[in-house]
Order: sequence, then C-alpha cells, then structure tokens
Amino acid sequence: MHTFHPENIELKKYSFLVTGGAGFIGSHIVEYLLNHGAGKVKVLDDLSTGFIENIEAFENYPNFEFIKGDITDYTTCLIATDKIDYVLHQAALGSVPRSIDNPVATNLANVSGFLNVITAAKENKIKRFVYASSSSVYGDSLELPKTEDQIGKPLSPYAVSKLTNEIYADVFYKVYGFEVIGLRYFNIFGPRQSPQGPYAAVIPLFVDYLANGNSPFINGDGEQTRDFTYVENAVQANIKALFTSNKNALNKVYNIAVGDRISINELFNTIKDLLDSKINPTYRSKRDGDIHDSLADISLAHQMIEYNPKVKLKDGLKITVEWFKKYHLTKEHVGIASK
Ligand SMILES: NC(=O)c1ccc[n+]([C@@H]2O[C@H](COP(=O)([O-])OP(=O)(O)OC[C@H]3O[C@@H](n4cnc5c(N)ncnc54)[C@H](O)[C@@H]3O)[C@@H](O)[C@H]2O)c1
Repeated sequence: MHTFHPENIELKKYSFLVTGGAGFIGSHIVEYLLNHGAGKVKVLDDLSTGFIENIEAFENYPNFEFIKGDITDYTTCLIATDKIDYVLHQAALGSVPRSIDNPVATNLANVSGFLNVITAAKENKIKRFVYASSSSVYGDSLELPKTEDQIGKPLSPYAVSKLTNEIYADVFYKVYGFEVIGLRYFNIFGPRQSPQGPYAAVIPLFVDYLANGNSPFINGDGEQTRDFTYVENAVQANIKALFTSNKNALNKVYNIAVGDRISINELFNTIKDLLDSKINPTYRSKRDGDIHDSLADISLAHQMIEYNPKVKLKDGLKITVEWFKKYHLTKEHVGIASK
C-alpha cells in the first residue's frame, strides 16, 4: 500500500542502491522502488540486524540485486555504488542502548561505514545521496517542537554517530559539490520492524509481548512522549528528497515525523485495545540517554521537499498490529521469528 507517488518521476530510467535494504525501513524503500518500476535496485546489507526474509520476495524481480557485504569495507562500497544513479543510505547499527553498551561497534558501522559509502558514492559520481539521520541529534535540547536548526548536545554514542553523519554530508556538499539530503527520522514503526533482542523498538516489543500474553516493561513512568511515524511516511520522504528539483533543498537535514505526539502509556493502551488484551505493563527505571519528550516541527520538509505524511499514528498502528498477527505471531514469517 502506497498512498503517494510523485507523477513526474520515471523510476525506470534510474538505478538505486539501498544500503541496509534488508532492514526494516530499507526493505520498505526497496519495495516502493520495485513496485514503481525502478530500473535497477541493489541492496547492500551485512544482515547484522536485518533479515534475508525481508527481501526474499524481491528476488523474483530481474532488476533486483542483493550484495551481502559490510559498509565498513571501502572496496565493497565502491563495488556496490558502481553504475548507480541514486543512493539511499539506511545501513547503521540502530538503538541508543546498543551504542551505550558498545560505542566502538556503533562508531564503526555508523561513522566509518557512512564515510565509506558517501566517499564511494562521490567517487562513482552518484547523482544524489539521501541518508538516515535521527531525532537523537536533538540530544539535551528541551525545545518543543524540534526545529532543525536548534539542536542540543548528544546524549549517547548513537546520537554522536548520526550528528557526525550530518557534519560529513555538509562537508561533502561544500568541498565536492556532492548532492546530499539528510532525514532525521522520529521513531519510525510498521510491518517488518523486529521485536527481537535487547534493542527492539517499543512498538514491535509491545505487540509481541501482549500478543504472547506477557507484560512488557515501560522505562520510567511512561509519561514520556514520542512523535511515532509510520514507515510509509519515511519512504515518501526518501523518494521526495531524491527527486526534488528544488536546489535550495540540498545540503539540508529534515525532520521526518508526523508532527503529533503520544505518551508511552497512551501508546501502550492503544495497542492493548487493538489486541483486545487485559495485560498491564511493568514499570522499571528510566533508561540512560533517553530524552523525555520528542515532537517534530515538520514544516521545513513540507516547504522544501513537499513532504506530506499521509498515514496517522492510529491507522499505522492498525496496519502494524494486523501484520504482526498475520506474519509474525503465526510464525509464518520465519525470518523475524527465527533470528
Ligand atoms: N527505526 C527508527 O525509528 C529509526 C529512527 C531514527 C533513525 N533510524 C535510522 O534509520 C536507518 C534504518 O533503521 P531501521 O530501523 O530500518 O534498522 P534495521 O536494523 O532494521 O536496518 C538497518 C540495516 O542495516 C544493516 N547494517 C547494519 N550494519 C551494517 C554494516 N556494517 N554493513 C552493511 N549493512 C549493515 C542491518 O543488517 C540492517 O538490515 C538506520 O540508519 C537507523 O539508524 C531509524
């Protein structure tokens, strides 16, 4: 289901590289590109946090190619960006707590890996490079809603890594004239987001726990708020950033969210209702590196790249819960269930 498509874009003329394309957001971008007739779609992914099952269905497309490889290897990045028009860089080690547990691994994938991909893309004369940044760069700033030019100090190694990406992208634009756009995602959710492991995101985790009759943890009192964003809105932002003809939109970073927030307690209750569950959450202490409130001002993305998020939280949650019931909780979707 894609509720948008810019009419004037002929995807069949172009080849695309999606790094991290076997992951949650990346696989939705790949699906969009293939469904809209892209000339060629390559995925570069080391499957460290992604799943082969997320891209299995795409193997039937003759114009799809999967390279299992690591972005921390520069030669791999050069090969992957060869004969590519556009790069959508999604590969990274996500999660604030993972970065606190292992800052070296986060830096290697998110900073060295990023530098490898952007350098290889520049060497191979890619037309435009759109990359995933994160709302974590707002750090200790208390300003609400978050506007792009008002960031605070990072609160985690993950935030440092994403802020470093933005600084490198800016330098590549200024030094090499390389076309870059960064997207600061705010808590993206949807089908294929993994509920597994200690670094799972909150929505798949709540769905998984409740559907299996378990009580999920809530860190802190649950009154912290987030601007949860359905994945299709993030896909839209990537496509619009890639193809905007507005040259003033280049070398900027944009908040990619809905511009609405909900507390973790309200989120829990909504998912509980959707699953018809009677289970209550278990509260535990607040997590290091977490900000209390997050809400995006999305007017810059609207103005510069015509970003217009169509799917609101409740509708996105319904689709997500249905997907989990169908593919994950029935264990048919072995990729998610087995890793
Ligand atoms: N999901 C969110 O809410 C959110 C919020 C802010 C930013 N982001 C960013 O969006 C991007 C995609 O996130 P996601 O939620 O889809 O996560 P994900 O873990 O599902 O996807 C990341 C993909 O990158 C791959 N990868 C990791 N390290 C790699 C390496 N060294 N070489 C090659 N591939 C590698 C993983 O295998 C995985 O498939 C990431 O850059 C993440 O930091 C996500």
